[in-house]
Amino acid sequence: IDIKTLRSVTGGITTLDAGFKNTSSCESAITFLDGEKGILRYRGYTIEELADKSDFIEVIFLLIFGELPTSEQKKKFHKDIQSKSLVDADVKKILDGFPKTAHPMGVLSALTSALTAFNPQSVEVSSESDMYNAICKILGKFPVLVSWAYRKEEGLPLAYGDNTLGYVENFMKMMFESPVEKYVMNPVIVNALDKLLILHADHEQNCSTSTVRIAGSSHAGLFASISAGISALWGRLHGGANQAVIEMLEDIKADGGDYQKYIDKAKDKNDPFRLMGFGHRVYKNFDPRANIIKVAAEEVLNDLGIDDPVLDIARGLAEVALSDEYFKERNLYPNVDFYSGIIYRAIGIPVPMFTVMFALGRLPGWIAQWREMRLNKEPIGRPRQLYIGATERAFVPVEER
Ligand code: ACO
Repeated sequence: IDIKTLRSVTGGITTLDAGFKNTSSCESAITFLDGEKGILRYRGYTIEELADKSDFIEVIFLLIFGELPTSEQKKKFHKDIQSKSLVDADVKKILDGFPKTAHPMGVLSALTSALTAFNPQSVEVSSESDMYNAICKILGKFPVLVSWAYRKEEGLPLAYGDNTLGYVENFMKMMFESPVEKYVMNPVIVNALDKLLILHADHEQNCSTSTVRIAGSSHAGLFASISAGISALWGRLHGGANQAVIEMLEDIKADGGDYQKYIDKAKDKNDPFRLMGFGHRVYKNFDPRANIIKVAAEEVLNDLGIDDPVLDIARGLAEVALSDEYFKERNLYPNVDFYSGIIYRAIGIPVPMFTVMFALGRLPGWIAQWREMRLNKEPIGRPRQLYIGATERAFVPVEER
């Protein structure tokens, strides 16, 4: 195809970059990631320092508004979120329509989208205060929906929050309080979850975040854009990997612990199997989140006195894979999802809820990216394509085909 024809077809020169491996879709001041050096920073602060010294509500504020909050700002922000946490009772009717066997990611995506129907004033945001309201609403209501997705599956009555508690404590109570027994908060579990949520909070233009930005670029509302992000996160190549990892480790355990067999399978180019929780589009050295989570998993299991043979399998598998030429040549390392499921399981989260927990952690990143995109007045996201189909041909009536 000559350049003149290309221009007339495309309106200009386009690049073809399947999977956007070398294409930046936007300018962003939120998250810095250096895949070669294994560096991840939110608004300039290293993930190591934030995971160690900060808490989730502070990180939410930092990601969305750009600075760590003062203690007054933190209190007010948390209060504003709490004041918007009630979910319309009619949303429960939608939940009732799902079978108990429904995957909670599908339920969460549908209920999040349904919030647009119950909060129509949050769909069209024309001022920063509208935007702030919509942000507090989704931050308040999302943990309620997550807990409902879980309680539906477990056959438990639905719960509302307790505004005297912190964001993570409140979430734990909504999830696990039984109608017949008071929920006793375990600080080890709260700390572990707080850390996990911080580690998942943003990761620049990954698949789900790009989905949120592109859906939002049409001026679809925040809740609808987040719902699109949840669907994108669900897949096994993205957030769904945390569920896939624990299922893989369980399979290895049931198979007598022979992880070498699975490593060989992953190397076999005629076998579609991949080591779940290994490899990353950007990290080509190590995933700093995985390093922090590995240590946290050991600590949590120790503190809770849990001996999980699956952690031994994970350790052994990682060690062997990391010294294997196939994985070395391709720079394949354990990613954030490799060890996170071990912690989720230790703190009582069932396997189908793992990716939902990822969504709870990623929510502030999605919000921050959506807000940045709207404030920057970015144009609608609309990639081009390289057409490779048929050239013009005459229509053939059905009886002549
Ligand atoms: N097991 C075995 N081989 C792998 C794996 C793996 N987990 N990951 C990549 N490879 C191989 C590929 O087969 C390919 O080999 P080749 O060069 O011989 O063809 C090479 O490594 C490069 O892989 P790509 O698929 O081109 O890398 P890409 O950047 O497109 O994919 C991804 C990244 C999707 C994360 C991939 O590594 C993968 O599928 N991992 C397993 C799923 C997973 O853990 N996902 C979670 C990612 S983190 C997150 O989203 C939160």
